[in-house]
Amino acid sequence: MTKRFHISRRRFLQFSAGGAVVLLGGGFLFRDQFLNDGNPSSTATDVIRGQRLPVPDLLTGTEIDGRQVYDLTMRQGSMAYVPGKTTATFAYNGDILGPTLLMRKGDDVVINVTNQLGEPTTTHWHGIHLPAMMDGGPHQVIKDGDTWQAQYTIMNEEATFWYHPHLENKTAEHVYHGLAGLFIVQDPESEYALPDQYGIDDIPLIVQDKIIDADGSFNYPGTNFGVKGDQILVNGAVTPMFDAPAQFVRFRLLNGSNARFYNFGFSDNRQFHQVGTDGGLLESPVPLTRLLLSNGERAEILVDFSGQENSQVRLVSYSSEVNVSPFWNSNSLDNSTFDIMTIDVGSPTANPITALPASLASIDRLQEGEANRTRPFILEMGFSGPMTINGQSMDMNRIDQTIKLNDTEIWEVTNNSDLPHPFHVHDIQFLVLTRDGLTPAENERGWKDTVLVMPRETVRIITHFGDFADPNDPYMFHCHILEHEDAGMMGQFVVVA
Ligand code: C2O
Ligand code: CU
Ligand code: CU
Repeated sequence: MTKRFHISRRRFLQFSAGGAVVLLGGGFLFRDQFLNDGNPSSTATDVIRGQRLPVPDLLTGTEIDGRQVYDLTMRQGSMAYVPGKTTATFAYNGDILGPTLLMRKGDDVVINVTNQLGEPTTTHWHGIHLPAMMDGGPHQVIKDGDTWQAQYTIMNEEATFWYHPHLENKTAEHVYHGLAGLFIVQDPESEYALPDQYGIDDIPLIVQDKIIDADGSFNYPGTNFGVKGDQILVNGAVTPMFDAPAQFVRFRLLNGSNARFYNFGFSDNRQFHQVGTDGGLLESPVPLTRLLLSNGERAEILVDFSGQENSQVRLVSYSSEVNVSPFWNSNSLDNSTFDIMTIDVGSPTANPITALPASLASIDRLQEGEANRTRPFILEMGFSGPMTINGQSMDMNRIDQTIKLNDTEIWEVTNNSDLPHPFHVHDIQFLVLTRDGLTPAENERGWKDTVLVMPRETVRIITHFGDFADPNDPYMFHCHILEHEDAGMMGQFVVVA
């Protein structure tokens, strides 16, 4: 069990004991409203499950004039989740989600993003260090029929990133309907003995939840508190089956859900090792039996299937073990352990990875003493009012924070509400200094761009703003529960010279 889990439980106890009186006034009102506002369940009873895990195509790009060029087209697609019915979707290139973009550190990349959805949206490169104009946030709208060209140099470390729409007030809906894809950044300089045969022992897992209606459609109820479905999809297939080789397998996990968290583990409670966080590899593999991922977070894990030919195990979410908040349960899956994917172990491949690497990345840790300033970020939500950061809801015309180029900053993020909020910052990767005054769990001591802040908790992060001064084009910071983001729990910062 991770330290993070212990902390959340401690917080929960504190909350129930000390906070009860405070809650009596508005709390029950809030709870009633929340439950009434809760998410419907799927009405389809015959959803197609257990299909072979789809693996998104790998796009390596085409080299043109020394740059790697990628083409993405956002379009309407159709899938079959209920026999005899079609499900209308949005996707990049195919019918659900999008291809995995393989990029190398140091590459100059060009991504042509064409919008054929029939409505405007944007495409944001989550976790990538890039100029604000290329970020694909709410200001870089791509109108229907247009192509937007993003160009930047890959400066990030070896890790797993993702891309998704970021249109003001529409992000949640667009992602829910299928727009999301992964990026893999490789560092040609580094030689880690990690599984890297894409689709064989290096497997992307985009985990999402949906409500699927009897007519096959994705039901998007759009509640402000966060939409949680009761059908679990991996790479666009409902609780699929994966044929694993009998060796170390690397899973690149993305919580691509709008609002649901996953407390990952295996049905036999086996140990696995986390090797990577949002923005890089850890210093060494961290043994775990549970891994809590909130929305937007990624984790790379190694699971050892050596010598386990012909066995079966399930990837599950032990959601019932996490007391995130008494107000956070709106759906039957919230209090249970549910299946995500079945794994059938087959034969090993020719050159399997047979051992855990002893050490991984060296992390250049920013020290508290290096910080030029500390900024507070207070996350709040009313019972029915707006969602705010420092008392204000998102305004595209307001710059909330102005940061000096080359400064190192500590951001002190306080969750002053009864729901959890995964706090995400564009452009940079940060390190978590403390969670409620304590050192973060070992598997959180790597580069991150999204960090879960539990109810009433304060998380302090440190980062350096070393590139891309631009007084006119802002980057975003926001809660990555997409409905909270759309409801205004987002702000803008600029980096100036
Ligand atoms: Cu994953 Cu502002 O985004
Ligand atoms: Cu982002
Ligand atoms: Cu939130």
